[in-house]
Order: sequence, then structure tokens, then C-alpha cells
Amino acid sequence: MKDFISLHDCSKEEIEALLKLALKLKDEQKKGIAHNHLKGKTLGMIFTKSSTRTRVSFEVGMTQLGGYPLFLSSADIQLGRGETIYDTAKVLERYLDGIMIRTFSHQDVLDLAEHADIPVINALTDLLHPCQVLADLQTIYEHKGKLEGLKLAYVGDGNNMTNSLMYGCGKMGLDCAVATPKGYEPDGTVTELAKADFAKSGATLTITNDPVEAVKNADIIYTDTWVSMGQESEKAERIKLFSGYQVDETLVANAKDDYVFMHCLPAYRGFEVSEGVIDGKNSIIFDEAENRLHAQKAVMVTLMS
Ligand code: CP
Ligand code: NVA
Repeated sequence: MKDFISLHDCSKEEIEALLKLALKLKDEQKKGIAHNHLKGKTLGMIFTKSSTRTRVSFEVGMTQLGGYPLFLSSADIQLGRGETIYDTAKVLERYLDGIMIRTFSHQDVLDLAEHADIPVINALTDLLHPCQVLADLQTIYEHKGKLEGLKLAYVGDGNNMTNSLMYGCGKMGLDCAVATPKGYEPDGTVTELAKADFAKSGATLTITNDPVEAVKNADIIYTDTWVSMGQESEKAERIKLFSGYQVDETLVANAKDDYVFMHCLPAYRGFEVSEGVIDGKNSIIFDEAENRLHAQKAVMVTLMS
């Protein structure tokens, strides 16, 4: 594994190894055991979109591993003024031991990984958000004691989270049911590729426009914002269109009694999720956010040490 760009590129065994390492690093950190796997190494962190969790968890994770995180806002580096991805890759590989990038175009991340001789980690594109889903799988495992055989229901916009969740569920054998409004289904190419993962693991993938059907007997209910970064101009239209897709008390009543509610955050209470659900007893959103730290440390140790 040179890069971490898509869960579809990882084998089930590779994902299992990352999860195992994440749990070990978490346990060590809780016990105050220092781990200096990346002593003397530097991670460049390119951001062309906003972030709270990703930026802080990568910076803290790198520091805990004895390395140095270097924040590179696209507003400050020449990439933001039109320098090519190729030249950026060729220059940064001379200084850095790894690059983490959050940007709009997924192709830019693929190009960066192709041209840089150092590991590249995808910290969110318009298409995928694999670091989030790795942390989500860790969180589900911690709460449910297993992954295989569970049912995850995703309700809302078929976006980068949905795409990565389909890959994660397909690889790890969770049944996945996605409910979106018509025209807002997950990416067609990702869906086709994910189907191969589901066929291999034996889990099922359902894509529907009916939230009740998706949530029926679910172990996990997941949602995300209706307005992703870059879609701000469509906000009013989207809020109208998605109004029947709020995860609220009535909808979650269709899930198993011990269902858990998940959201990658940032959340918008009263839109994609009701206050009662996101702040209720089944919500595990802050465990999820915490696990970004541990899961990404596992990715960095695996790729960079
Ligand atoms: N979930 C997530 O990636 O959060 P940030 O946008 O705050 O990094
Ligand atoms: N779908 C959201 C996820 C944020 C972590 C976005 O892309 O803005």
C-alpha cells in the first residue's frame, strides 16, 4: 500500500490490519504509552476546503507519533495560484515523508499520488472520504463487537460519505441500504465498483428513494449534511428537496432498538437530523470524531514508517 485514497483499493485484510493497529494505538495513547513511530518525519497537509476534525486529528496524530505536521493552505501555497499538481508533487517529495490532501477534484489526488514518490492520503474529495469511513468502521466495531452481518442505513444526500460508506460496507461485509431523493443517488461508477465488493463479501447493497425501507431493522443509521462543501449556491433548493429525508424520531423507530446513530460532522440540527436523534442516547457521533485520530495514526504508521 503506497497511498490511502479509496477503500476500494484496499483488501479486506488491509482494512482489518489498519483497524487492529488503530485499536492498539488508541489503547496505548489512553495508557500514556508513547509511540514514536514517525520520529523525524514530516507530513504536509494541503487543504483547499475547510476542516475542523481532519486538520486537528492529523496534526495531533502526527505530533503523538513523534513527527511534524505542516499545514499548507491552498490560499498560501502556489498550487492555489495555478502551479501544476505535477510540479507540486515533484517538489514536495523532496522535502516531505507524506502528503495529506483535502480538495475538490478526486482526479487531482490521483495525479498527486501518481507523481509523488511519497505516500498520499485522501482527506476528502468531492467523490470520497476514506479516512472518515475507516474511523467509522473502528467505531462500529467498538460499539457492536463485529462488522460482518450488521446493517447500515444511510439516509440523505448521495455524496462523498455515501460513496465511501458503500466501499467500506462492501469490503467488510455489512449490508448497506442507501435512501436518497431521486436524482441524488450515490455516484454511478462507485456504485458499480462497490457492487463487486458486496458480491465478494456476500453482503447486500440496496439503493432506494424510500427512507423507511432503508432504515428497517438497521443496526446503524448514518446521515450527512444536505449541502456539502462547494454546494453552497444550491442550499435553498436542496433544503426543500431533502425535507422528507430527515433522520428523526419517527424514522429511527423502524431500526433495531439498539441502533446507533452516526454522522461524520459537521451536522446541521433540524435539517438532516433532528436534535432529539443526534443528541439522544443512541448517538455515537463524538466517539466517531475521536476515532479519526486513532484511525489516521494507523494509516500514517502503515504508509510512512
Ligand atoms: N468529518 C470531517 O471530515 O470533518 P471536518 O470537515 O471538520 O474535517
Ligand atoms: N459531505 C460533506 C462531508 C464533510 C466532512 C462535505 O463534503 O462537505
